[in-house]
Amino acid sequence: MQTDLRGRDFISDMDFSKEEIETVLDVALTLKRERALGIGHPLLRDKALAMLFFFTSTRTRSSFEAGMAQLGGHAAFIDHETTQISHGDTGKEIGEIFGRYYDGIAIRQCDWDIGNGYINSVADASRAPVLNMQCDIYHPFQILADLMTIVEKVGDPRGKTINVSWAYASSYQKPISVPQSLVLQMTRFGMNVRLTHPPEYKLMPDIVQQAKDNVGQHGGSFEILDDFDAGFKGADILYPKSWGALLTTDDDEESARIGSQYTDWITDSRRMALANKNALYMHCLPADRNIEVTDEVIDGPQSIVYDEAENRMHAQKAVMALTMR
Ligand code: CP
Repeated sequence: MQTDLRGRDFISDMDFSKEEIETVLDVALTLKRERALGIGHPLLRDKALAMLFFFTSTRTRSSFEAGMAQLGGHAAFIDHETTQISHGDTGKEIGEIFGRYYDGIAIRQCDWDIGNGYINSVADASRAPVLNMQCDIYHPFQILADLMTIVEKVGDPRGKTINVSWAYASSYQKPISVPQSLVLQMTRFGMNVRLTHPPEYKLMPDIVQQAKDNVGQHGGSFEILDDFDAGFKGADILYPKSWGALLTTDDDEESARIGSQYTDWITDSRRMALANKNALYMHCLPADRNIEVTDEVIDGPQSIVYDEAENRMHAQKAVMALTMR
């Protein structure tokens, strides 16, 4: 167990070693158990977290805010539109100034080709740890919660097959950060990772290469498919979700036209039946119901989406407690 995470940023999934991720999961399970037993754990009393949002959120905001309160501290919700960022406050200034007010700075900035650079510019200037609440490249806290949920449900994830698949959605061009973080982190835990998408929905080449490198180091396998049904076959965990064709086009109309070729990429009970018996359905949410996934599946017995959402809070509490002490 690696216990010295004090002051560390968590921006990319790879910022913590595999052993450090295992420490986080261990602490998260302890905090979850203690909360179930009504045992308080005010590990961050008198500490404050800035939560700077450039994009909407249901789960991320509430799980960080509730988690920080349970740790005895305070989380300040800051919508960027209510700040002077649009009038000139730079990432360096936010890092310098918030780093002096707060004990941690959490940021969601998902704008394509901007978000990750912005978060790193804040981190470079901040004396307090910076936590990535989702950028254009990574969503590391979502994947911590996903990994924790998989371990709770199936035990050792080594040798289990997870299908990280694109699915159709009509609402908006969703970031590619969830599938990218999934293939990065799950390949470090010996899983057989299957990435399934139409040709226009490729992930960043260096992320795919890192996933392949992880397999060389940690075992398991990594394959890329372009057939939606084939992705389900024999899988233990299904994680079909929509993402934007961001490496193909940044034009919303062109993206909608590309997506309209694949409206049949919806997770339904026929497709679930192609997977292993008792396969689990996961989704980070929000989902486009009956477009991306049928109600029957997402509300059905194989779906673990609410346990997954709950574990956001426990995993984030663990990282905050370890980094913000
Ligand atoms: N999964 C997730 O990050 O949810 P929110 O966008 O609601 O925070």
